Amino acid sequence: MSRQEEEPVSQFIMSLAVLIVAALIPSMVTAADESPNTSAGSFVVHPIGRFQIAEGHARIILDKKYEAGLLGLDGFSHIQVFWWFSNNDTPEKRSVLQVHPRGNRENPLTGVFATRSPFRPNLIALTLCKIVSIKDNVIEIEKTDAFDGTPILDIKPFIPGDAAEDARFPEWLKKRGR
Ligand SMILES: C[S@@+](CC[C@H](N)C(=O)[O-])C[C@H]1O[C@@H](n2cnc3c(N)ncnc32)[C@H](O)[C@@H]1O
Repeated sequence: MSRQEEEPVSQFIMSLAVLIVAALIPSMVTAADESPNTSAGSFVVHPIGRFQIAEGHARIILDKKYEAGLLGLDGFSHIQVFWWFSNNDTPEKRSVLQVHPRGNRENPLTGVFATRSPFRPNLIALTLCKIVSIKDNVIEIEKTDAFDGTPILDIKPFIPGDAAEDARFPEWLKKRGR
């Protein structure tokens, strides 16, 4: 084969290589740009503070570094506190999908997403708390159903839109304490 015949073949191979690299670059860039949080479908959440239950007091002790986030909260009477069922953070407890509500076998087997069960895949709890006072990074609250030391994930003010006038509920919930 003469040199003149070889050249078109090597040019063709070069062009092909350029095309392949060009096609690959966008996906390489996307993969590098995506943060591990979103591409893995998981999220890292850090506590912003903890509940302190002691000597008849219930308090939210916010980490000092988040104190500025409390500005304006004194205009509200109640907060929605999101916290973590920290004592249940095991694969077994996080794989529970159905329970008898309130641990009462007389209540019908119910999906955890239809209950306030402390056993669930994501151990997120929500408690409506009445504010007693706010001083620096400490929110004194009337009461909570979280244990002392429980990590807090977020705090939001209770707003009128949180109440639903046309709410309905299953029978088991209407029986108090059962
Ligand atoms: C039925 S759950 C409801 C929690 C929240 N009000 C909700 O609706 O998501 C409340 C119970 O969780 C349990 N609990 C409190 N703190 C906890 C913690 N850090 N880890 C696991 N369970 C906890 C207590 O037994 C408490 O009575």
